[in-house]
Amino acid sequence: MSTLTETRSFALESLDWDHLHFYVGNAKQAAHFYTTAFGFTPFAYAGPETGVRDRASYALEQGEIRIVLTSPLGPHGPIADWVRLHGDGIADVALRVDDARGALEAVRAGGATVLGEAHEERDEHGTVTYAAVASYGDTQHTFVQRNGYRGVFLPHFVPLTVTVSTPHPVGLLHVDHVVGNVGWGEMDTWVDYYKKAFGFGQLISFDDKDISTEYTALKSKVVSDARHRVKFPINEPAEGRKKSQIEEFLDFFHGPGVQHVAIATNDIIATVRALRANGVQLLDAPPSYYDALSERVGGINESVEVLRELGILVDRDDLGYMLQIFTKPLQDRPTLFFELIQRKGSLSFGKGNFKALFVAIEEEQAKRGTL
Ligand code: FE2
Repeated sequence: MSTLTETRSFALESLDWDHLHFYVGNAKQAAHFYTTAFGFTPFAYAGPETGVRDRASYALEQGEIRIVLTSPLGPHGPIADWVRLHGDGIADVALRVDDARGALEAVRAGGATVLGEAHEERDEHGTVTYAAVASYGDTQHTFVQRNGYRGVFLPHFVPLTVTVSTPHPVGLLHVDHVVGNVGWGEMDTWVDYYKKAFGFGQLISFDDKDISTEYTALKSKVVSDARHRVKFPINEPAEGRKKSQIEEFLDFFHGPGVQHVAIATNDIIATVRALRANGVQLLDAPPSYYDALSERVGGINESVEVLRELGILVDRDDLGYMLQIFTKPLQDRPTLFFELIQRKGSLSFGKGNFKALFVAIEEEQAKRGTL
C-alpha cells in the first residue's frame, strides 16, 4: 500500500504545462493580435458551430506553447462575470498529467480547493479527462489527461480552416514560468498551498530589500515541481513610498491573478527584433543600465550595444546567465504582460534586473498617474 506522499509524488510526477486559457472580451480580435504581434498560429476553434452555445474559443500555438482565447457570447455566466471584473487575462493555467483523477485526489489530500471533480469528455477522436482546482483569486488549474486523444486540440474543437491572419513566428519555444500577484501578506499562504497540495519545492525568494526602488517594493518566492518544468513565482506588494506595481495590478485586476508569463526563446535577439517589427511594445531599460552591465554580469556572448538597442536585460547566477525583456501590458488594464527569456545556464528569474526593471515600470506607472 502506498503512502499519501508516494501517491502525491506519483500522480503529480508527470505534471507539465498543457495550455494557458485566457478569458477576453473579444476572442476573434485577440486571436488576430496574438497571431500578428506574437507569431502564434491559430489551429482550432470551438463555438456555436461546433456545439458550444455560450462561448467562442480559439486555440493558438507556437513551439510547445498553446494558448486558448475564450469570449462569452452573452452577458451572463462565469466567463462574462470573470471578464467584467478582471478584464482580459489568464483564468486557467491548465496542467497536463497522466492521471487527472490521481492528481486531483493528491492535491485534495494536500488541502487544495477542488472546483471540478474528475470527469471525461469524449468525441470521435478519443477521451480527455479533466479535473479543476483553485489557485489565487479567480485563477484555476485544470488537470488535463489526454489519454492519447487524437483530435486537433480538445473535444468540441475543430481544425481552424479559415486563417485568422498570417502568423509570423518569432521563435517562442515553451513556457518558462507563470507569475501570480497576490494580496498583502498572502504570498506565504500560496507558497504553502503549492508546497502542501502539489508537493512543490521552493526554489528561491526575494524580499523587499532585494526588490525595491525609491517608490515601490515587492516580495517574491518561487515554487516548482521536482523536475523544474512548472515554475510559479508568487509576488506580494511590500511597503514603499508610493504605490507598488503589485498594488496597481491588484487594483486594476480586482484581486490576485496571473501577472506575467515568461516564454523561452533560444535566440532572444532575433525574437525581440521580430516582436518590435510586429509592433509589440516592450519595456525600455534606462540607458544607464547598460553602462554598468559588463561590470555587473561579466563576459557574455552578446554585444552590449545590440542589447542596448533592443532593451534586453541580463542577469547572472552561479550557473550561468540569462537574457530577458518584458512587454508592456497586453491589454488596456495594466495587468497581464509577457516576458521573453533566454537561459544560458542560469536558473535565475532576473533578481539583479528587478530594480532596473522597476525603474522602467514606474516610469510607465507615472504616465498613468497611478504611482
Ligand atoms: Fe519572470
